[in-house]
Amino acid sequence: MKTRKPFVAGNWKMNGDIVFNDHLLGALRSGVERALLSRIDVVVCPPFPYLGQASSLLRDCGIDWGAQNACALPNGAYTGEVSAAMLADLGCRWVILGHSERRQIAGETDELVAAKVAMSASLGLGVIACVGETLGEREAGDTERVLARQVDAIVSGLGEQRLTLRAECLVVAYEPVWAIGTGRSASPQMAQEAHAFIRSRLASLASGGQQTRILYGGSVKPENAASLFEMPDVDGGLIGGASLIADDFLAICRAAAALS
Ligand code: PGA
Repeated sequence: MKTRKPFVAGNWKMNGDIVFNDHLLGALRSGVERALLSRIDVVVCPPFPYLGQASSLLRDCGIDWGAQNACALPNGAYTGEVSAAMLADLGCRWVILGHSERRQIAGETDELVAAKVAMSASLGLGVIACVGETLGEREAGDTERVLARQVDAIVSGLGEQRLTLRAECLVVAYEPVWAIGTGRSASPQMAQEAHAFIRSRLASLASGGQQTRILYGGSVKPENAASLFEMPDVDGGLIGGASLIADDFLAICRAAAALS
């Protein structure tokens, strides 16, 4: 029995189109049990152009929706960027920040992630902040140093909110880079070790760290979800590939709810 409410988020990445999303969102809406949604938080994060579609197709069904990124700056001449204020204006509840694909592809640094956290949190968006080591960093024995640096940056970005972490404002996702999209998930023990480290780091920086949900992400599937989620410090998952298949995503949600 977990004291923290489990949280499962689907990160669609740059996938989907109107017809595909219609089917997927419709299947989630009709397939999700109401009772499940009283026990866990479920969020889907489509690409920006489809947030309105998610908002209307998920209306009043208990599944929340979120974005995959937000700009650190308020508004202005920043071609191609989307501000956190625009997301809040749209009724967006959550935003994924600091995903390793953005750190790698878009060169996002800890400082930039902290600035994005600051902007989004100040506007009332719940932040799903991602941390995780590369294979090289793990093999060099640097995992904890990297996680500490990333967690410190995220918490510093929270400004006033950092003094008391609130479960509805910050969720941390531990995603070892070598496990993302590779089919090679971390073992439950490996995930637990990293999560326990992240939790102790959060607790050393702020009160409320014990209540912060820490998700595991990286090749979570219906087959391995339960064994990961039953670890004491794993409070759910950030799901990439499997979140594009309604039955798989719902099975993962049920695995999280079974432990709540
Ligand atoms: P994956 O992606 O489940 O496809 O490994 C997870 C993520 O990147 O959030």
